[in-house]
Amino acid sequence: MTKNILEVKNLKMYYFASRGVVKAVDDLTFNIKKGEVLGLAGESGCGKSSLGFTLMGMPTPPGKIVGGSIKMEGRELVGLPEDVLRKEIRWQKIAMIFQGAMNALNPVYTVGYQMIEPLLYHMGMEREEALDKAQKYLELVGLAPDIVYRYPHELSGGMKQRVIIAMALLLEPELVIADEPTTALDVVVQAQIINLMKKLKKELGLSMIFITHDLSILAEISDRIAIMYAGKIVELGDSKKVYYEPAHPYTQKLLAAIPRLHEDVERLEFIPGQPPNLITPPTGCRFHPRCPYAMEVCREQIPELKEVDKDHYAACWLL
Ligand SMILES: Nc1ncnc2c1ncn2[C@@H]1O[C@H](COP(=O)(O)OP(=O)(O)OP(=O)(O)O)[C@@H](O)[C@H]1O
Ligand code: SF4
Ligand SMILES: [Mg+2]
Repeated sequence: MTKNILEVKNLKMYYFASRGVVKAVDDLTFNIKKGEVLGLAGESGCGKSSLGFTLMGMPTPPGKIVGGSIKMEGRELVGLPEDVLRKEIRWQKIAMIFQGAMNALNPVYTVGYQMIEPLLYHMGMEREEALDKAQKYLELVGLAPDIVYRYPHELSGGMKQRVIIAMALLLEPELVIADEPTTALDVVVQAQIINLMKKLKKELGLSMIFITHDLSILAEISDRIAIMYAGKIVELGDSKKVYYEPAHPYTQKLLAAIPRLHEDVERLEFIPGQPPNLITPPTGCRFHPRCPYAMEVCREQIPELKEVDKDHYAACWLL
């Protein structure tokens, strides 16, 4: 059996904001195997990016990990001092493609200058050697090596996203968290980026957490899918099972809300209501105010993830 590269147990990360405590990552447990792609989806504000930053050991202020464990290749990361995280873990073991990062490339520096900075700083490489490595990674993501001499404004959106992916890979991480890497791109370029990610997974044996709103992309790229709702994982399992036989009412609603090929588009549904405020989330099952099947127990007790089928878990009192 392939071993777990990442083991997350009862992880909690809250934002201690002036308006109250935002429970953005609330008691998450999941694993990722070597070479596996875990797709992560859920409505805006459910905590996907917060989870990514937390796994990188850098929750955005005023966020703090308040409980649980993150083990990378068996090593506990929660509680590690910042300098150890910086020198040994971040970018070298776990890297992240930040949401919207391609628009955050610095316009006044060349691509090469921005790429080699971590190599000079983290690896103590010489400039020439670092530029060489940057060029090698540009080729790996399907770009011409002389792009190191270009400025971000000279590149298309798809090219910029490839640069960002190359940057995340430079220190040869085991796990890459890709936060909405295709969202701002047109469908043709989206498909190219998805194919690139698949190729990288295969060639480098990368493990990945792939975050997106787009469930059809997840079915395409993921081995397993996790669905988040209001800071919690409500369904987790083999991607085909979650996509074709969703067990949780929220996943069923999410899937009913996207147009699927060969289906009657006129029957597209939407989920009534709004995701809850995470300062005072609903009691019991957090989906109960929007769930058509809500029962008394749903309002009172939090459902845990239960196995509904082999490699398929859901947290719902109906099951
Ligand atoms: N720095 C912060 N301080 C306080 N609250 C925050 C902070 N960052 C995020 N939040 C809150 O945490 C919750 C989760 O946000 P997060 O950005 O992780 O969601 P997301 O699932 O990535 O959403 P999207 O799909 O829009 O990217 C939201 O309620 C958000 O308002
Ligand atoms: S636990 Fe209850 S409210 Fe929550 S999804 Fe299941 S049936 Fe709906
Ligand atoms: Mg996000």
